[in-house]
Amino acid sequence: MNRQLLADFEATWVPRVNTYLDENLREVSDRAELTAAMRYSVLAGGKRLRPLLSLAVLATFNQPITAAELRASVALELMHTYSLIHDDLPAMDNDALRRGQPTSHVKFGEDLAILAGDALQPLAFQWLADSGLPADKLAKLTLGLAQAAGPQGMVAGQVADVKSTGTQLTLPVLQQLHREKTGALIHYAVLAGAIQAGVSEPVQAALTTFGDAYGLAFQIYDDILDVTSTPAQLGKATHKDAGEHKNTYPGLLGLAGARQALQTAVASAQTALDRTEALSQTDTALLASFLTYFTN
Ligand code: IPE
Ligand code: IPE
Ligand code: MG
Ligand code: MG
Ligand code: MG
Repeated sequence: MNRQLLADFEATWVPRVNTYLDENLREVSDRAELTAAMRYSVLAGGKRLRPLLSLAVLATFNQPITAAELRASVALELMHTYSLIHDDLPAMDNDALRRGQPTSHVKFGEDLAILAGDALQPLAFQWLADSGLPADKLAKLTLGLAQAAGPQGMVAGQVADVKSTGTQLTLPVLQQLHREKTGALIHYAVLAGAIQAGVSEPVQAALTTFGDAYGLAFQIYDDILDVTSTPAQLGKATHKDAGEHKNTYPGLLGLAGARQALQTAVASAQTALDRTEALSQTDTALLASFLTYFTN
């Protein structure tokens, strides 16, 4: 795992993703307050992990990243940002800080926050549809994004999260919740890169196994960071999950147990990359470098 590969990839692509979002959300609506609310949350910052993962799969398989691939990859950040705006609402996690700034509902009111999220969700599909990618790839991407975000994916996990708060889940049930609420969009990020790069079915399967393990690791790490980090470090509230009786890995397994589960998920992700490499004869070091995120 080479940390510098990720740092260099971020240095190249995060500014391009941010500029793309800024330029393409200027006249997104004729309603000024809606445009403002959408821009506010999307442009507040964020690691841009999900588009970066798609782009890293494309780079790994030497697929040129034209305007079409960039638009299709960045679309996922719209879907992710919608999920954050709604996750923070008073009826959900009731959080006041996100990406280092007041949450959307604090800044614009609950009505506009809900509607900004509502608008970002179809806009993600709009950017896919008008990206200029070939129709056969678009059909697969659209299906994949709908499945990842919808009632068998992210929203299912969010329902399990809010409805299980206050009761202790078993580990297999909690793992499934994490795979849905966070893993599904990360699975799609990797799948989207694989579809656009046109890899073979077995390689796509190995890659999405990597995405699944990465997504689980990502939510376990998010749970750990809630216990070990400060709001200044994360740009969002910390030390909150336990008091709210949220189901988390540290809550169920303790901090040491959660770290062990994280290492198990990271090892699964690496195994899937090794399989990807063996099947495709392609160097996966760039994707492996994303695993250094968990060793900060
Ligand atoms: C936060 O996602 C929500 C989770 C799924 C844990 P990120 O940690 O990717 O948040 P940003 O995009 O960097 O703000
Ligand atoms: C968020 O999980 C998952 C989403 C689908 C947004 P969390 O509720 O733990 O995310 P944070 O900690 O608020 O970012
Ligand atoms: Mg939540
Ligand atoms: Mg939350
Ligand atoms: Mg969290």
